[in-house]
Order: sequence, then structure tokens, then C-alpha cells
Amino acid sequence: MVTEEQILEGLREIQDPDLGRDIVALGFIKNIVIEAGEVSLTIELTTPACPVKEDMKADAERIVSSLPGVESVRVSMTAQVRASLTPQELIPGVRHCIAIASGKGGVGKSTVACNLAVALAKTGATVGLLDADIYGPSIPTMMGVRREPEAVQTATGAKMVPIKAHGVSVMSLGFLLREDQVVVWRGPMLGKAVADMLSGVLWGTLDYLLIDLPPGTGDVPMSLAQLVPLSGVVVVTTPQEVAQEIARKSILMFSTLEKSLNRTIPILGVVENMSGGIFGTGGGERTASRHSVPFLGSIPLDEAISLGGDAGKPSALMGENSIEGGAFAKIAGAMAARVSVLQYSENSA
Ligand SMILES: Nc1ncnc2c1ncn2[C@@H]1O[C@H](COP(=O)(O)OP(=O)(O)OP(=O)(O)O)[C@@H](O)[C@H]1O
Ligand SMILES: [Mg+2]
Repeated sequence: MVTEEQILEGLREIQDPDLGRDIVALGFIKNIVIEAGEVSLTIELTTPACPVKEDMKADAERIVSSLPGVESVRVSMTAQVRASLTPQELIPGVRHCIAIASGKGGVGKSTVACNLAVALAKTGATVGLLDADIYGPSIPTMMGVRREPEAVQTATGAKMVPIKAHGVSVMSLGFLLREDQVVVWRGPMLGKAVADMLSGVLWGTLDYLLIDLPPGTGDVPMSLAQLVPLSGVVVVTTPQEVAQEIARKSILMFSTLEKSLNRTIPILGVVENMSGGIFGTGGGERTASRHSVPFLGSIPLDEAISLGGDAGKPSALMGENSIEGGAFAKIAGAMAARVSVLQYSENSA
């Protein structure tokens, strides 16, 4: 009969392409059960959004079923997102805070933030989405929710309960404003507003909290980076040459903040939005390579994406088999993999 050692030996052949080690050494294999010729086991990944999840499962099934004495194999895939080592004091249940930024307005930050949140949630991750665009909150429209959040009493004071939309826990200042109200805060008040939206909200346990930033390099990104350790930043750009210069400013701002706060703020990568069309494609990739940061992928310029945003139905809901949904799912996977890699190198440093 097959032994646990033989199974593990066989599975060593499978590498995690992002972490660069085999899945046995990484401790991914759990609950091996051998009953007569029937084997079952679990592979526990570092993110449910792992881009090669299906391949790994198929490889494991193939390898184990080829071992002598094995008649059937059942491989279950699970994931446990591990928190970054730096404690989140303000929001202790949140494993990773990820900011979505760009130096320029209108490049599609909010669209990308909503769709990445939905794409991650579809993989089974627990996801929050914070609209930190205090001046022009657009998340309520794009996620199709606008009502006043409930407040509950907790051991640490009254907190607002995020509103669930498309499987994502959402909070926006837009929930608290009337449609005709505008915000004119500056400097310290903005910092206070950002702090309230973090610690004054019952985020609970989240694998990923995506934070949609306002355009530019102003007070909000600075306050945010001071308030919480960021697992990283996704920089959104468009294919135009001018956008590249602005994406550069955004990347430089975070590296300046990094130095002044004495805390790493990794750029998880660049996303090229509105790819194709008259401005062509490739600008995002060039920006990424110029700054030696990963390129996470591109999103086509596509009316369906815009209409989905207006209707409160992000295109990522269509799933990975559609063109739009597929583009967002791929980027969500690349981003989550990058977070796992950084977290892993932090733990093993
Ligand atoms: N890939 C795309 N294809 C077509 N339209 C898009 C795409 N991405 C975004 N849009 C549209 O472009 C407009 C701007 O997008 P969005 O609001 O997401 O940008 P933003 O960077 O968050 O803007 P702001 O700086 O104002 O916060 C929206 O009308 C949106 O629907
Ligand atoms: Mg926006």
C-alpha cells in the first residue's frame, strides 16, 4: 500500500511558481488520508486567488494516482491568507491593506478597485472595499449600493457596519452624504476622516482590504500610509505617454513616503486600464519596467466596463470566462500572488 512519505515525495515535484519552492516544503499539504487504495488530501494555498490553483490540483491528482497501490484520489483546494508581520493596530482583523492609486484623475482607479474586489471575492477571499476618495466618492454607484450604514456598539466604541455588495464589504463617505453634498475638507480633517473610515468601521476579519484613493499625491495617501501598514499599492495608468509621467509621480510619492515613515510600501504592480483603442497599448508595461515593478496586466477599453460601473454591476461579476471578467480575474490573481510572495519573504527573512 502507498505511504504518506511516498505521496509527499511525489508531490515535491509541484512547484509554486510565485514562491519558487515545492508545495511540500512550503507546508501546503494537509490532511493526507489513506484508506485502502483511496487517497484524499488538501492543498492549502496562501491565497484563494492563486492563478495556478487548477493546474496544481490536476498535477497533484495525476502524480498521486500514478503511485503504486492508489486507486482513487481526491484533492481539495483551500487557502489561508496569512497576515503581514506588521500588526494592523487600527484594524486588527485585516490581513492586507492594498491601496489603488494613480497620479491622475479619471484613469479608472475606482473601476479597477471595484472589479478587483469583486474578482477576489469570487475566488472565496474575504474582501473589503474602502472608498477613500473623500471628494468624489464613486464606489456607491459602481457597487450599486447607497444607504446609511448601521451603527453598532462594540467594546471599542460605536462602529459603522460596512454594506455588503456583490460579496464585498463596502464603506464610503458617499453612504453618509446626500447626493448634492460636497466635501471641502483639507489637511488634518482629511486625515481624521480616513482614520474614522478605518477604525470607526466594523471591518471584521478580511483577507484583503482594497482602498480606492483619490487622484494625485495629496493628503489622503499620506494619511493612509501613516495610519496603516500597506501590504502594497496598485498603480493604475492608461496607455498614453502623458499618463506614464503621472504614474511615475505616484510611484515616487510612495517611495518618498516609505523613507519618511521608515516602513516599506511595496508597489505590487502597474495595471494598464483602457488598453487598446486610439491610444494603443504597452504604456503600462513600459512604466512597470522603467521602475522595476511588476506589470499586473491590462484591462481593455470597453464600453461594457463603463456601463457596468454606471449600473452598479462591476464587469468582474461576469466571471473569468468573459473577456472583461477574465482580465480582472487575472490581475486579481497576479496581485494576490505578489502579496503572498512579499509576505513569504518577510516571514522567512
Ligand atoms: N476599461 C474601461 N473601459 C471603458 N470605460 C472605462 C474603463 N475604465 C474606466 N472607465 C470609465 O472611465 C470613467 C473614469 O473611471 P473611474 O471613475 O474608475 O476613474 P478614477 O480614476 O477613479 O477617477 P477619479 O480620479 O475621478 O476618481 C468612468 O466613467 C468609467 O466607467
Ligand atoms: Mg475614482
